[in-house]
Amino acid sequence: MTEGPLLWFLNRSTGLVALVLLTAATVLGVLALGGRPGTRVPRFVVQSVHRNVALLAVVTVAVHVLSSVVDEFVDIRWWHALVPFTGDHERVWLGLGAVAVDLLLVVTVTSLLRHRMRRRTWHALHLSVYPLWLTSILHGAGMGTDLGAGLWWVTLCCAAAVAAAVAWRLVRASKTEDDPTDPVRDGMTMPLRRSP
Ligand code: HEM
Repeated sequence: MTEGPLLWFLNRSTGLVALVLLTAATVLGVLALGGRPGTRVPRFVVQSVHRNVALLAVVTVAVHVLSSVVDEFVDIRWWHALVPFTGDHERVWLGLGAVAVDLLLVVTVTSLLRHRMRRRTWHALHLSVYPLWLTSILHGAGMGTDLGAGLWWVTLCCAAAVAAAVAWRLVRASKTEDDPTDPVRDGMTMPLRRSP
């Protein structure tokens, strides 16, 4: 029960889905930041989808980690998922996965507490999504087995999506540099809650 193809498939499929969801959440976060009020899709809609996709990613990562710890085929303990580079199995690639989990915890907890934090502090911590996404993609590429070209296509598409979103954001930021009314100017999103 704690070993076998079912757990292995669960582990691999949740890993892949988690990577796609994290990529989607990152892209949506960049789009929510760069969108202009009054465009076709209102920014609050993009932000709301961004938050829900990110939440789904957190749940998927939790199932992914749990299935790799429960699976006794390889020796992965729960602390290997939190303290990077402490396990013997695929130390580097698994360690990068643990770094991603730690960063995901930082981003999730600070997002839940953001109304109690200074906006700039929250935003600085939220930028951890970039190393989080990068360590996830490296971990997936290093750990992935047996999927041949499929995994590489997913990895490539995820990398292309984030690169395109960041490039679009940089171009947009340079165009709006002189516009004092644009929230993108100082790298801030619109407040999630309006002040009374
Ligand atoms: C944000 C965090 C993480 C993400 C997005 C992620 C994603 C992935 C992806 C995409 C794969 C490749 C799946 C495939 O073979 O097709 C994978 C493999 C794997 N991951 Fe993660 N992972 C994360 C964290 C972790 C952690 C912390 C652990 C364990 C402590 C872990 C354990 C594994 C294992 C054992 C495999 C290999 C499965 C196989 O044998 O093919 N992952 N992960």
